[in-house]
Amino acid sequence: MIVANRLPVDRHTLPDGTLGWRRSPGGLVSALEPVLRANEGAWIGWPGGTDEELEPFVEDGLDLVPVHLSAQEVEEFYEGFSNATLWPLYHDVVAKPEFHREWWDSYVTVNRRFAEKAAEVAADGATVWVHDYQLQLVPQMLRELRPDLRIGFYLHIPFPPTELFQQLPWRRQVLEGLLGADLIGFQLPGGAQNFIRLVRQRVGHKTHRDLVYLPDGRTVRAAAFPISIDAADFEELARSEPVRARAAEIREALGNPRKVFLGIDRLDYTKGIYARLRAYSELLEDGHFDVEDAVFVQVATPSRERVEQYRILRDEIDRLVGRINGDLGKIGRPAISYMHSSFPREEMAALYRAADIMVVTPLRDGMNLVAKEYVACRYDADGALVLSEFAGAAAELRQAWLINPYDINGMKSALLEAYRASDKERTRRMKAMRRTVVDHDVTTWAAEFLDELGQVRADHGKTVRPAHPS
Ligand code: F6P
Repeated sequence: MIVANRLPVDRHTLPDGTLGWRRSPGGLVSALEPVLRANEGAWIGWPGGTDEELEPFVEDGLDLVPVHLSAQEVEEFYEGFSNATLWPLYHDVVAKPEFHREWWDSYVTVNRRFAEKAAEVAADGATVWVHDYQLQLVPQMLRELRPDLRIGFYLHIPFPPTELFQQLPWRRQVLEGLLGADLIGFQLPGGAQNFIRLVRQRVGHKTHRDLVYLPDGRTVRAAAFPISIDAADFEELARSEPVRARAAEIREALGNPRKVFLGIDRLDYTKGIYARLRAYSELLEDGHFDVEDAVFVQVATPSRERVEQYRILRDEIDRLVGRINGDLGKIGRPAISYMHSSFPREEMAALYRAADIMVVTPLRDGMNLVAKEYVACRYDADGALVLSEFAGAAAELRQAWLINPYDINGMKSALLEAYRASDKERTRRMKAMRRTVVDHDVTTWAAEFLDELGQVRADHGKTVRPAHPS
């Protein structure tokens, strides 16, 4: 059973005023959906919106169990504690985290609701896999209700350095919440090490390497499991005739420039969109190429639109794109084609195919699956990837043009190198990256985590007892 803040589908109003479903945004859903399909489990999550209290339902073959949030909980638990406290805190404090006690109370209440729902639905001895920063208290709450379950937790975003995490007024509760799991997965080894160090310092449990020894005899393992994508599925999509035709159509619509740069992100201040567009515009200004040679397509998927930092970012990007296009565009040739919308996977695959240079420049990112999707779609072993060192994906995709997103000149040089790279150079790099993405896809990721979860329980979980024995 998967427990995640969002269901894989999101409630929204259709143009005719009726309610319908659309795919939820973000990498978590793209990664987990194929896993759930392969394992025939159920998915517990928030269906979006606050209006209706839905019963469990089946959508597109998936068993979905909704957890209702009130309007106040959306404000305090989701927009507040999850996305204005934890999100910036866990992403290197690139925006200032806000700490409010009522947001924390709401986080506890909603986490308890998710834990109670999972406890109600899970079969005897089931494996429950809890996901991401919105639900860090669920493992402990669930264990108290159902000690028979095998509980895994996976954090999709970075786990911060100890110095930053310690700002959190409820740091001990969060660590204890996570320790309810048998296995805690992180994107990178550094995140797992940060966690182990904090548990030792702040909770006082004994640790050895990646293991935590709890006073009740249980052992918890914290380790890195870098997430991936369904690479074969993306490649198949990219190879399909409609996608190939659409890719050609996109280039045509852009005026068949020599090179197309592409950015695809949720509109989030961690993604480094502003600096990347500036770097590209300065290359135009400096005369390295003009808009006939190279255009930039930027897709920004609407995200967390009621959170203040996201509103500010949207205005900043709107202004920057307007200024760059006003200063550097020509009639029928904007420098940047900017779309504030979300697209189906087919359109994304066509964009990946149409793009010569994929630009992924987050200031901090757990993994960044867009980078891997691009590589998976380039079955022609062509295309260049410019990738931030601060994305988890950089640990695996070493053959990308790696950049420091805070260094605009460095970013300009890398964009230019990728723009000028020979066919041979691009192919050499892309072939190596493709091996990594194809060999380590989402099925391998899930299998490694779930096998390990089985092992941890088999090796160390024999002495499990309820936290409050009766
Ligand atoms: O892992 C990043 C993440 O926050 C997921 O948990 C989430 O589902 C996705 O990004 C999209 O964000 P949101 O659910 O807030 O729209």
